[in-house]
Amino acid sequence: MARRWNNDLTHADATPEAEFWNRRRIIAGMAGTGLAAAVGGKASASETLEPNSWEEVTSYCNFYEFGTGKEDPSRYAGQMTTKPWNVKIDGLVDRPGDYSFDQILGEMTLEERIYRFRCVEAWSMVVPWQGFELADLLNMAGVQGGAKYVAFETLHRPAEMPGTAYNVLDWPYREGLRLDEAMHPLTLMATGIFGKPLPNQNGAPLRLVVPWKYGFKSIKSVVRITLTDQEPPTSWNMANRHEYGFYSNVNPDVSHPRWSQASERRIGGGLFAKRQPTLMFNGYGDEVASMYEGMDLARFF
Ligand code: MTE
Repeated sequence: MARRWNNDLTHADATPEAEFWNRRRIIAGMAGTGLAAAVGGKASASETLEPNSWEEVTSYCNFYEFGTGKEDPSRYAGQMTTKPWNVKIDGLVDRPGDYSFDQILGEMTLEERIYRFRCVEAWSMVVPWQGFELADLLNMAGVQGGAKYVAFETLHRPAEMPGTAYNVLDWPYREGLRLDEAMHPLTLMATGIFGKPLPNQNGAPLRLVVPWKYGFKSIKSVVRITLTDQEPPTSWNMANRHEYGFYSNVNPDVSHPRWSQASERRIGGGLFAKRQPTLMFNGYGDEVASMYEGMDLARFF
């Protein structure tokens, strides 16, 4: 299933949708294999995940560098230059450096993953991503023994990012993971959706996807990855530590101070659609719960 392709894919080269969905069904049908587990997590071995539409995934976005409205990213992110693109990998690694996006793609094996995506604002989607495991990238750079956390930064280029004129967040957008979370096989660096390169509004050319955490952990348009021995400061946590914890694992039992997290609104479900119950760890508990054994998840929210 996994295959290589390069960065110069154009629209015309992209997998025709029919073929793409055909392959998706093959993946979904591989119940019992590691890949099937990775694709959908607990609920998907028996349940088929129906992805949202291209239109929904690319027009209802959060990317505050381009404004706080859901449609601002699709309107304004087109002006972000994504070629050339470098990712600085530094801190506690054996091979620090500025890696070009092309160089990274040359080393990585891309695969398709269909994941539930749950925003802290209590809406959700199902997105067919393409990308590679973050673990492969970190191994490429060589993680040193003392590393305990991974910090991420988004591009900060005010001339192309009108939203950064406002101090909604302390720019650049920053996120972080514990090292075991970062090395987990479900943790993806996405480079595409629906078999096409990532649109700018979704975090081109590469963004993090951590399917068992609230969406704000899935930082877009990453330019820096730092291995460190300290829990790194993260944008939403710095903005309001009472509302946005460092862990932010999807948890129906721990409410946001201003709203319940017990249920969610599926984008595209229509105005009168019933809300869906939110799943612990967004449905990926079998794969990830052991990382948090013995932790008080209400305290480390
Ligand atoms: N990354 C950056 N750099 N800036 C952002 O504003 N928003 C986050 C996350 N990553 C955000 C970001 C939030 S709140 C969510 S829900 C997801 O991106 C949304 O991803 P999507 O627009 O591709 O659905």
